[in-house]
Amino acid sequence: MSKSILITGGAGFIGSHVVQLFVVKYPEYKIVNLDALTYAGNLENLKAVEGASNYVFEKADIQDEEILKAIFEKHNITDVIHLAAESHVDRSITDPLAFVKTNVFGTVNLLNAAKEFWKENLADHLFYHVSTDEVYGSLHDGGFFLETTSYDPQSPYSASKAASDHFVRAYANTYKMKTVVSNCSNNYGPNHFPEKLIPLCIHNIKNNRPLPVYGKGENVRDWLFVKDHARAIDTVFHQGKDGETYNIGGFNEWKNIDIVNLLCAKMDEKLGREVGTSEKLITYVKDRAGHDLRYAIDATKIQKELGWEPSLQFEEGIEITIDWYLNNQEWLDHVTSGAYQEYYDKHYEA
Ligand code: NAD
Ligand code: TYD
Repeated sequence: MSKSILITGGAGFIGSHVVQLFVVKYPEYKIVNLDALTYAGNLENLKAVEGASNYVFEKADIQDEEILKAIFEKHNITDVIHLAAESHVDRSITDPLAFVKTNVFGTVNLLNAAKEFWKENLADHLFYHVSTDEVYGSLHDGGFFLETTSYDPQSPYSASKAASDHFVRAYANTYKMKTVVSNCSNNYGPNHFPEKLIPLCIHNIKNNRPLPVYGKGENVRDWLFVKDHARAIDTVFHQGKDGETYNIGGFNEWKNIDIVNLLCAKMDEKLGREVGTSEKLITYVKDRAGHDLRYAIDATKIQKELGWEPSLQFEEGIEITIDWYLNNQEWLDHVTSGAYQEYYDKHYEA
């Protein structure tokens, strides 16, 4: 039997790349993209596949039990890849409840819908939960996050994702649902909403606006190109073992300030500006509350067991990303109008 896969959050940054990969690579699957189209969801991310015969979009909120039930029935859903979430740490600090509602309540609601619909043969269907390395907390004394690292979430965002991971594993244990969870490091690439560090800096450099660096800029993140994450999700979906967890990362750690400097140098070159021009925009601002110092993934398990590894070097991925933003001004204009400006002014007290 061919599959009818429900991908949630498919209009967002990572979800749109996952949807596109699956629609193009697996014409025999029906891909149902369920997304509430919050500020972070954007159908312009899906132009390349919107006319495909194996693709359907459903505007729905994962908090809505009745709609989920109807969608499972209407499309005879065989598997779920769950990406829908509130995803921005800074927003979780000002509005934690929104994160509980979507990331915790919404995930449990989706688990229930899947469990109800598949009840006769739970073992034939997969619930794949896409999560973050932030659930492991902050590294202070070296080392890496392993799949066996204890959870120690520090922000309302990571606490909500940790709770959702626990619920997925609890459903596997209690109801014998077939599940996999993957925990990935920071993604970057095309279609990234410009509230996050890399697209925000690209947008601001282009417009000669200050580049807000939290604290001293010494926090470290491991960065992975979004299409490599989508490839990893494809690999885990098809080859991951029931009940397992896979860490996904880029083996690519950077201090924030070094990334901002790299973006300044690359953009000076691309925009024909004198060397050092954009660096002058760097502005150190008040640190994020409870700012995690360092995230670093050990992605050996997925590499050894499933044969996945990143395909792009960071400098190559950054070039592709900057070029995408420079060539997609209309996309940026649409997402930065209205509500974005309000969020930005309030958050950075412009
Ligand atoms: P995003 O914010 O760009 O997209 C989230 C999508 O979910 C949006 O399209 C939004 O409309 C949708 N959504 C939000 N609330 C919803 C609801 N209640 N019902 C239905 N849809 C809803 O996020 P992203 O960066 O693409 O992240 C996708 C997933 O990957 C998240 O689960 C996130 O925790 C995880 N993740 C992200 C990163 C990263 O670096 N961005 C890294 C690891 C894991
Ligand atoms: P972000 O892109 O928000 O991802 P996450 O918080 O999930 O890691 O932030 C990446 C890093 O950049 C993080 O250490 C916070 C920092 N940062 C800034 O210094 N300035 C900013 O304006 C933003 C949005 C983030």
